[in-house]
Amino acid sequence: MSVTRRYREAWEEFWSEASAEPGAVFWDAEPVLTVGPHLALFEPYLADPALPLVDLGCGNGTQTRYLADRFPHVLGVDLSAAALDHARRADPAGQAAYRQLDAAAKEETQALHAELGDTNVYLRGVLHQCEPDDRQSLADGIATLVGERGRACLVELSGAAKPVLAGLAGGPDGPPPKLAPVFRHGIAPAEVSDEAVPEYLRSAGLTVLASGRLPLTTTEYRPDGTRIELPSTWLVAGRTA
Ligand SMILES: C[S@@+](CC[C@H](N)C(=O)[O-])C[C@H]1O[C@@H](n2cnc3c(N)ncnc32)[C@H](O)[C@@H]1O
Repeated sequence: MSVTRRYREAWEEFWSEASAEPGAVFWDAEPVLTVGPHLALFEPYLADPALPLVDLGCGNGTQTRYLADRFPHVLGVDLSAAALDHARRADPAGQAAYRQLDAAAKEETQALHAELGDTNVYLRGVLHQCEPDDRQSLADGIATLVGERGRACLVELSGAAKPVLAGLAGGPDGPPPKLAPVFRHGIAPAEVSDEAVPEYLRSAGLTVLASGRLPLTTTEYRPDGTRIELPSTWLVAGRTA
């Protein structure tokens, strides 16, 4: 099942309007504060770190480039062509490769798996905002890419992030400037409960090997100057223990 046209267009418009300035996008925090600490948690569970690494829903590729510094073969995939334009422009040396892909579309993940074989998959902030009917298809797509030997490494906003986001959006001045486009484009964040994420993975045939909580650093600040962090969960899953 492919994502809906509305959802695809929402992301395309979001990324078409997004600035290429580092830190201009709400979730686009420096990798040393985001993928870096997460990698330290994930790496002990990678059965084969030499497998190709897919950054699924790579957006403008900030985290992808960090991964490409550390893994031999990194591919950033995203639904949005405009996101991939950002990612390619920010990576003129071509450290990583980039490709358009709808991870909820079975034939697309099957074709990528046929090409690359089993992969390790990194996914940050994709499941929590995709449409309810697409969540299981997306988890199934992750399982297809992971195959027998790969690992799925996920970071998703917790359900507890929703009231925090609502509080930020409902303040007297409306949402902070970097959060406003997310709501304007109808991209609904923090819609998946913490219990649902492992369930989707299990239904896709994966076993959750480890999980925990870690705040997700954003690029936005509160009026008092403190950086906004959102509750998030991380999980590693694979076909075999
Ligand atoms: C919140 S952004 C996170 C971007 C990046 N992972 C990061 O941490 O900076 C979610 C990204 O997932 C992409 N995305 C959403 N649904 C997708 C799907 N079904 N297949 C591939 N990418 C998808 C969106 O286009 C968007 O770039």
